[in-house]
Amino acid sequence: MTTPYREHVLDHYRNPRNRGTLDYPDVVQELDNPVCGDTVRIELRLEGDRVIDARFTGRGCVISIAAASMLTEAIKGKALKELREMTDDDALALLGVPLGAVRVKCGLLPLRTLQKGLEQIKTHDTRRLE
Ligand code: FES
Repeated sequence: MTTPYREHVLDHYRNPRNRGTLDYPDVVQELDNPVCGDTVRIELRLEGDRVIDARFTGRGCVISIAAASMLTEAIKGKALKELREMTDDDALALLGVPLGAVRVKCGLLPLRTLQKGLEQIKTHDTRRLE
């Protein structure tokens, strides 16, 4: 890791943005990294089809916590459609550091959690249409 990027990641690890829980979340999703057992939980507050607030809690390594901090920052204000279109590369680009295969799982844990949470909304919407 180059120094500026490492500092950027460490800053998010030491001072995570959006760490905590929401009073009335519309989406709550927790997921673990099967490789290490660490977990990330993401909560979203929605207004229409847009994320107006996001929080996370979890236990994990520097990369997973920094990634959760950066992801929750990045998704605030975004439409659900934009969230569904987020790719692994988009999430890893937030970290801005090259990761090996094991660390990629750490870096993608928050995105996987978000994606699983978004599935809940789809299920809910589908049910409403039936
Ligand atoms: Fe567990 Fe990174 S080592 S999430």
